Parts: sequence; structure tokens; C-alpha cells
Amino acid sequence: MLSNRVQNVEASPTLALAAKAKALAKEGKPVINFTAGEPDFPTPEHVKKAGIEAIQNNRTRYTPVGGTPEFKQAVVDLLNKDLGAQYSAANVMINCGAKHTLYNIFQAVCNDGDEVIIISPYWVSYPDMVKLAGGKPVIVAADEEQGFIPDPKTLEAAITSKTKVIVLNSPSNPTGALMDAVTLKGIAELAKKHKLLVVTDEIYNELVYAPAKHVSILHVAPELVDQTIWVGGVSKTYAMTGWRIGYAAGPQEIIGAMTRIQSHSTSNPTSISQDAALAAITGNQDEVDQHRLEFQKRRDRLVQGLNAIPGITCPTPAGAFYAWVNVSALGDSAKISEQWLDEVYVATVPGEGFGCPGWVRFSFATSMEIIDEGIKRLEAWVTERAQKV
Ligand SMILES: Cc1ncc(COP(=O)(O)O)c(C=O)c1O
Repeated sequence: MLSNRVQNVEASPTLALAAKAKALAKEGKPVINFTAGEPDFPTPEHVKKAGIEAIQNNRTRYTPVGGTPEFKQAVVDLLNKDLGAQYSAANVMINCGAKHTLYNIFQAVCNDGDEVIIISPYWVSYPDMVKLAGGKPVIVAADEEQGFIPDPKTLEAAITSKTKVIVLNSPSNPTGALMDAVTLKGIAELAKKHKLLVVTDEIYNELVYAPAKHVSILHVAPELVDQTIWVGGVSKTYAMTGWRIGYAAGPQEIIGAMTRIQSHSTSNPTSISQDAALAAITGNQDEVDQHRLEFQKRRDRLVQGLNAIPGITCPTPAGAFYAWVNVSALGDSAKISEQWLDEVYVATVPGEGFGCPGWVRFSFATSMEIIDEGIKRLEAWVTERAQKV
């Protein structure tokens, strides 16, 4: 009964693991959950209020497919300021989360067999989204030694006559790596030389820890604007994962095609969420700064604690809220992650789903108490295991 297309698609492993951890917790098990892909802070009060007011003021009908004019204009203004771009409303559209933005992009640009370069470790959804659009994911590994920053020369070696798109994600989920200006310039040159479309997923752009600074490919190569689609949203920056608002900026032709696709799937993103997201991006940004500082403290505690455990190494991520942890000295990452959950109720996501076995992802979008307790349990687990061997 199923289409060939869907038979090649896996369920998101991160969502599956988060669900397993939640189910165990519901059974009363003392689960320490490091799987979260979302901030644990509440949505800021003024943003919630804008959502409530949207309901009270009956802003509860269909909006234009690509978003309300007010919110689109706010995104245009934000990006023109941040990127120094000159987008107009026709270059921008609003979607039901950045995941939906990316889904629409691949549907709009992939022909059967078109190759899409994805850098590993990658966010779990890119390859499956490309496959669902008929494209072929081509995975290029970024090495640990280079801090998981891809080498433009290695990327160029993967380019064929069928390559159409290259996907960038900085800061990265799962590694937290931040692409530097030199690398981005190198990639921009490749994109120009081989006429590639650049999809730059910058959903974590506001979660970068000083002294590191976020750089977009459009900062270093503004001339690439006609072959770049910029992707972002409010989920991570404003603790708004459940509101489902993401957005894209890019060439009118592609935004127009994405809008046509969206008109036959979700129609508009929720009217109420758009009003709330408008308040988020145009309102007071103090909470964003507070969250960033808190995440940085948690990152430091988690990274330090994990590195003190024999057999585990963990580079310091520059952005996002994930620690990317090398457990290869302990054994198979999928097995280790499973044992941690089953034996000491510590939930993590193994690297296999990110195209990088040997590693495990820990989210630090959780409290200091949880981080300390998780580290304590893993220390005890490793010690006990060493005694058995
Ligand atoms: C790299 C990356 N891109 C996009 C998304 C999608 O975010 P959302 O659909 O919640 O806006 C996520 C969420 O986990 C992500 O990690």
C-alpha cells in the first residue's frame, strides 16, 4: 500500500528517543533526560500575551499562505538589519516551523536524482527530507580534528554534474560547531563556481556563546543572495517550539514555488502563532540574552563534567545547546546510549542518526541539577563497568 518514496524514510530518531525517555518517566522511572531539542524555559510573557490577544481580537482566521503582511515585514526588517540584505516581502515566507521551511525548500528545488550535499554530523531530518523530495543526499564528513567544520576542498570533491544544493547549518545540531568566515568564503566560492543553491539553516543563530560570534554565509558573500535560501525561526531563540513558526528568505522564484506548495498542504501557519512570533522578534530581547547566559553556564558544567569521566571526551560547543560527546573508547555508541537509558535512566541520542557513530548527543537545555545528577550516574556507570572488565 505504501509509496516507494516513504519506504526509504525513517522516523526521526531524536523524537523517538525523547518519547521513550518520557514513557519511562511516566512509568515512574527516575529518568535524566538529555534528549531535549528545545529550550526548557517558558515562552516570554509578552509573547504569550500577544498570542492571547490574537485570540481575543479574533485574529483566528486564515492568513495569506506565506504569512501575515505585518509579520513578513518584521522578518524582512530583521534580516535586512542582521544580514545587510535588501529583501522585500516577496523574498520572505513564513512556515509551520523551520522544519517545514526546509521541507518546502527541498520540495521546491529537487528533481529526481538531484544531489544535495549534506555535511555530517548532520541534523537528522535533512537526508530524509531530500529523499522525500526525490533528491539524493550526498554526505560529506566534517572531521573531529577540524572541529567538525567542513573543508571546502573535501566538499568540492563531492560535487558532480548532478549537484544542485549544499546545506549549511551553523551553529550545528548536533555538534554546536560554528562555521568561520574563511570556511564560509571558501564554500561561497564553490557555490558560485558550480552554480549551487545554498540552503543555510541558521535556526540557532542567537545561541552562540561569547567570545564566539555567529557569521552567516551572507555576511561574507552578500553577492550570493540570489542563490541562497536563509532559514530561521523563533523555536529555539524564544522558547517557542510548540508554536511552530519558521521562515525563509531567498530568491522570489523559489519563495513563490514554496508558497504554492504550502498553499496545498498546511495553508498558512497558525494566525495566533504569527502574532506571538511578531511580538517575539520585534519586542524586548532581554530574555534571549538571559537564556544565552544560562545555556553557557550549563554548557560549561556539562562539558567539564563529561570530560572528567574516563573514556569520554567532549569538545566545547560554540553554539546551540548540544554537547557532542565521543564515546568510541567505551564501545558502540548506539549500544552505550541504550545501556545508559536502560541501566541508569540517562537518556541521550546516539550519533548513528546524525551520520556519525561513536558519538552521542547530550542536550544541555535542562537544569543544572539534572546535569549534575546525569554526570554522577554516568561516572558511577563507567566505574562499575571498568571493575567488571
Ligand atoms: C538544525 C535544525 N534545523 C531546524 C530545526 C527545526 O526547528 P523548528 O521546526 O522547531 O522551527 C531544528 C529543530 O530541532 C534543528 O535542530
